[in-house]
Amino acid sequence: MSTTSQKVAIVTGGATGIGRAIAQALVANNVAVVIAGRDQQRGAAAAAELGANTLFVPTDVSQEGDVQQLIATTVDRYGRLDYLINNAGVEAGMGGFEGTEAALIDSVLAVNVKGVFLAIKHAAPVMARQQSGTIINLASFVGTTNPIPQAAIYGASKAAVLSLTQAAAAGYADQNLRVYAVCPWMTDTPMADRQTNSDPAAKAQYAAAINPSKQLATPEDLARATIDLLEGRTELPNGEAVLVDHGSALNRITPMTVA
Ligand SMILES: NC(=O)c1ccc[n+]([C@@H]2O[C@H](COP(=O)([O-])OP(=O)(O)OC[C@H]3O[C@@H](n4cnc5c(N)ncnc54)[C@H](OP(=O)(O)O)[C@@H]3O)[C@@H](O)[C@H]2O)c1
Repeated sequence: MSTTSQKVAIVTGGATGIGRAIAQALVANNVAVVIAGRDQQRGAAAAAELGANTLFVPTDVSQEGDVQQLIATTVDRYGRLDYLINNAGVEAGMGGFEGTEAALIDSVLAVNVKGVFLAIKHAAPVMARQQSGTIINLASFVGTTNPIPQAAIYGASKAAVLSLTQAAAAGYADQNLRVYAVCPWMTDTPMADRQTNSDPAAKAQYAAAINPSKQLATPEDLARATIDLLEGRTELPNGEAVLVDHGSALNRITPMTVA
């Protein structure tokens, strides 16, 4: 059981990458953290490294029974749920419209869209009973103003995450819930390693392609943005999205010439 003043968070996909950095930042802020993911060995090891106030619950977010079990275990163990970080996500490769298999489309939508929906479906009623809670959904810059044809289905899944964010914010505002999205630019995580075969030159090429800073984001950049929202340091209207993109979106704005 957590101490009465201690907040309790679930971080899906909290064993690696951005989720891991968010979990670490939450623990540093004295939040009890429940990590959810499929890989049991990696999840248990991450929870052990993060300390005594961290628990791993084996979960496939695309399976409703798993998600129900995740929420129930959290409430049994800690008595409440203050923060839900819907971070678990999978990439869809760069096959574009003609090179993406239908089975891959199904599996990406099952995790990135259905998984976020199910977690909100089962966590929000707990928060509504408490009359408090914050949900943060990890979307992506490609789900906002930067669709990339080669990553069309991934971008579409993340645009859906933005829609779920706004729908949940509107649906639960009366119960005092806040719901936000955080939209990363390409971030140096295992996902970026898979997309570039961990080749530093390929990562640099991505970074240079559209990004004024010529750098990938770090998991810690995303953790800071998330914690600032949770702690109320970034005050945004309910349902808003924060872009953490090192200025990439700026390159989509045609420079204006003033005579
Ligand atoms: N890295 C980027 O460039 C980037 C850019 C924009 C947005 N994002 C988004 O940011 C989030 C985190 O990405 P990341 O880069 O940190 O990726 P990552 O290192 O590959 O981590 C993804 C995590 O999600 C978990 N996961 C995947 N499928 C799951 C499922 N069905 N059920 C439960 N957990 C599942 C994985 O754990 P298990 O394998 O153990 O399940 C893993 O811990 C994702 O939503 C991603 O789409 C990333």
